[in-house]
Amino acid sequence: MTQQIVVDTRTLIPRPVVLETEGLCKYWGGLKALDDLSLSFHDHELHSVVGPNGAGKSTLLNLLCGSYRPTRGRILHNGEAIDSIKPWAFARRGIGRGFQKTNIYPSMSCLENCAVAAQRRIGGSFNLLRGRNSERLLLEMAEEALRKVGLGARRDTLASRISYGEQRQLEIAMVLATAPCVLLLDEPMAGMGHEESQLIIELLKQLKREYCIVLVEHDMDAVFELSDKLTVMVNGQHLITGSVDQVRDDPKVKEAYLGQGDEVF
Ligand SMILES: Nc1ncnc2c1ncn2[C@@H]1O[C@H](COP(=O)(O)OP(=O)(O)OP(=O)(O)O)[C@@H](O)[C@H]1O
Ligand SMILES: [Mg+2]
Repeated sequence: MTQQIVVDTRTLIPRPVVLETEGLCKYWGGLKALDDLSLSFHDHELHSVVGPNGAGKSTLLNLLCGSYRPTRGRILHNGEAIDSIKPWAFARRGIGRGFQKTNIYPSMSCLENCAVAAQRRIGGSFNLLRGRNSERLLLEMAEEALRKVGLGARRDTLASRISYGEQRQLEIAMVLATAPCVLLLDEPMAGMGHEESQLIIELLKQLKREYCIVLVEHDMDAVFELSDKLTVMVNGQHLITGSVDQVRDDPKVKEAYLGQGDEVF
């Protein structure tokens, strides 16, 4: 298939498509959790996916990272179909996934958490790694990831001893430790206060210069501030994709959110 290249009109930096879905479906018996979704995600772009509860957002991320197999449709990474590769091969390709619920090991240090994540990319077990070079590489990847999220000073602190906001930062560091090209983030600001969310917003502003980011998030102020592109889904169906302004002004979106108690648009 031909690679579609978008050029940022402000910076003239090309933003090639990194990840694509074509007619992607995930059915659980009669329930269409995701139905016929065709989207493209570009490099150096933060693309948010929003929608009411049960819209299929986490399902999409689970499909994009290989945790779920599609019922139908294709996923392409750099133009190559990857929907039938093994789940671990997604991480090896640099498709990194953060989780909706905190997914850290509380009894390990921040550095160890990131090192365990990094071994997903390198392969093998952290404890069983042979050779000092492999171990050094893992620790370097882990340290770099902690530094990027601003947790460098917490490297030896147990994950259970850091604040909730820092745990969510650590979770992003664990994705970064896998040396990803794509970051799939599921509600990284869930349960955070304003100040903690602001830290994550600033972090994501930095990271989107370097990565293709797919962000699922209910905090609409954050979504509006961060998104280069925005997709709205409802009941497993694609409703609209566009810029923040295009989506905000669309009457279909307002209608979809009516009665959800979510007067964000
Ligand atoms: N493993 C599963 N088995 C059966 N149904 C599932 C499974 N996972 C998700 N679903 C269903 O698929 C639909 C979409 O769920 P999903 O978790 O993707 O929604 P979501 O948009 O992430 O919602 P939220 O905003 O609440 O996180 C829901 O109806 C959900 O109950
Ligand atoms: Mg979800």
